[in-house]
Amino acid sequence: MLVNLKEILKIAQAEKNAVGMFNATGFDSLQAVISAAEELNRPVILAHAEVHNRYNDIDMVGPAMIAVAQKAKVPVCVHLDHGVSEDMVYRALRIGFTSVMIDASALPYERNSELTAAIVKIAHATGVSVEAELGRLVTGEAGSGESVSGKPEDFYTDPAEAAAFSEKTKIDALAVAFGTAHGFYTAQPKLDFSVVKACAESTGLPLVMHGGSGVNEEGFHNAIANGIRKINYYSYMSKAGYLAAKAEIEKNESGYLHDVEYAAMHAMKEDVKAAIKTFSRRG
Ligand code: CO
Ligand code: CO
Repeated sequence: MLVNLKEILKIAQAEKNAVGMFNATGFDSLQAVISAAEELNRPVILAHAEVHNRYNDIDMVGPAMIAVAQKAKVPVCVHLDHGVSEDMVYRALRIGFTSVMIDASALPYERNSELTAAIVKIAHATGVSVEAELGRLVTGEAGSGESVSGKPEDFYTDPAEAAAFSEKTKIDALAVAFGTAHGFYTAQPKLDFSVVKACAESTGLPLVMHGGSGVNEEGFHNAIANGIRKINYYSYMSKAGYLAAKAEIEKNESGYLHDVEYAAMHAMKEDVKAAIKTFSRRG
C-alpha cells in the first residue's frame, strides 16, 4: 500500500516508535527492504538518494519502487532522500514519489526556508509530503567528500530556529543534527538527545535521524524516546550485502552474477529486519 510520509509517520507517532528508511540503490536492495518489511508486517520507507542516482537513475528505479510499494502488504512510502537539486525533486514528483526531502541545509537560513516553502507548496498540492533539514551533519550523504569542517555541535539544530522554520515552510518532517554522521563511524558517536527533545517540543513535528548506521541500540532507543520518528539507515545494510557478495565470490565460482546478487540480497534483508525490529520498539 503506497502512502505518503505524513501518513506513515502518524503510525510511528501513535506507536511512539520510528519507521526505518532504507535506500534502494538497485533491485537487490529494493527486494531486500520490501521482503523484510512484509515478513515483519511493519511499515517502511523506500528511498532513492540523489547521490545514488549514478548507480540507478530515478527514471529506472523510481517506477519500480512505486510498483512494489503499491503491491506491498504493508504501508510503504516512496521517498526522495537528500534532494539537493530542484530538478531531482521535480523528477521524483513526476514519477509519483509520495515524499521528497529537499536538502537545502548547506544554504543560508533564509534561502533554505524560501526554497523549502516553495517545494512544500507544490508537493502538498498533490498530497506529497516534504522533509527538510536544519543544522548540518559534518559528513555528506556519500559518507565523505562534501564534509564541512568544524565540530559537530557547531552545526546542531537550534530549537527556536526549527520552530520558525517549520511555521514558515509547513514541512511534514524535520531532519535534525544532534551528533550523528553519514557513512561508517570510526568511533561510537556522541549524541545530544536534549537537541531532539527541544526540537520535538518547539516544532511539534515528527523528527528524522540521518546517519542511523552504527548507532547502538541504546542510542536508537533514546532518540525514539525523545521524538525521532524516522530513521535513515543505509551504510551497514550495504556493507552486509557487500560482505556476503565477497564471501559468495570466494566460495562459489559459478561465474554467475545472479548468485552473488542473491547472496547480497539475502544478507541485506536480514540486516534490514534487525534494524526494523530495533526501530519498532517504543521509546
Ligand atoms: Co541523510
Ligand atoms: Co524508554
